[in-house]
Amino acid sequence: MKIMVVNGPNLNMLGKRDKTYYGDKTLPQIETLLKNEAKILGADIISFQSNSEGTIVDFIQKNSSQAAGIIINPGALTHYGLSLRDALVDSGLPVVEVHLSNIYAREDWRAKSVVAPIARGQITGFGWRAYIAALQILVGELKVKK
Ligand code: DQA
Repeated sequence: MKIMVVNGPNLNMLGKRDKTYYGDKTLPQIETLLKNEAKILGADIISFQSNSEGTIVDFIQKNSSQAAGIIINPGALTHYGLSLRDALVDSGLPVVEVHLSNIYAREDWRAKSVVAPIARGQITGFGWRAYIAALQILVGELKVKK
């Protein structure tokens, strides 16, 4: 079972970005933790990061036929990325939206997600553990549906 893990703009800077919100792990470190967890769960991770919405849309279009679900931290695209949202819908896959920081405990504009209404669910504010929880929940659900 393949799970796409997609990270949006500026998440390549994890480890350097504001650590009070985003923690001190780099994206490659989080991806390694996800791969380890995936092995335990019997799943495979296809990970991708881009700072461009169109490039993320291309990636989702290209890879959705071979994946069972999508974990996505859209970064700031969360709040306005409508072509990303459409691509997620068009994929036909269950989507789990993840945020390192609690988007409801920050500036008002971060509290609106254009992805949340089309997602299976959202995990926000547990740092890197949000990704692990998303993987466990998504794979758990997909295993039951098989
Ligand atoms: C984020 C929250 C967004 O508001 C922000 O633009 C990000 C990271 C998070 O993981 O907490 O880039 O998605």
